[in-house]
Amino acid sequence: MLGSGKGSNFVAIAEAIAAGRIPARVSVVVSDVPDAGILKHAADRGIPSRHIAPGAFRTKLDEAAEAAFIAALREARADWVLLAGFMRILKGEFLRAYEGRVINIHPSLLPSFPGLAAWKQALDYGVKVTGCTVHLVDQGVDTGAILGQQAVPVRDGDTAETLHARIQDAERALYPEVVAALVRGEIRVRGRLTTGFSR
Ligand code: GRF
Repeated sequence: MLGSGKGSNFVAIAEAIAAGRIPARVSVVVSDVPDAGILKHAADRGIPSRHIAPGAFRTKLDEAAEAAFIAALREARADWVLLAGFMRILKGEFLRAYEGRVINIHPSLLPSFPGLAAWKQALDYGVKVTGCTVHLVDQGVDTGAILGQQAVPVRDGDTAETLHARIQDAERALYPEVVAALVRGEIRVRGRLTTGFSR
């Protein structure tokens, strides 16, 4: 799993694994941020965790960092790469190394509101329903095939914070379920079309 932030999605997945709901294990957690909460949560659970410096760019990994991320994942014998609040765009070499095996969770009902602070984009637009999406990562930003979605209502009086919190609750329910279905081989992917689900 790769993350840059507090790691609540990592915790949800680690707990689902511990409860026997996902037939898999987290082989390594890697972060581009040295003091990210996700690294601490991994260490607390005895899961190998590493910081790898991202290099000079702000929104992606430089070539050396990309190679180091790939090497760390290979060393851990990872079959899947789950992004959980990883704030850098992965492309080229990385996606070729793990083609069709990189999954992300995004806090909106894609294809609406790709990019940053999607909950705020939804609130500012005035939609009455938003949600979260688990999707494959492709060369675009939040454009890969959709594996699972969960709708979340926008309520009167919502602020960016209250809406974000409701979406994150949905994320912590959806992501483990989609990962469980994926590793069980229950989701088939044909181009954009998948047998993923909504909950
Ligand atoms: C989540 O809200 C996810 O949608 C976005 O980044 C956030 C990560 O939160 N991609 P956490 O680090 O899992 O708590």
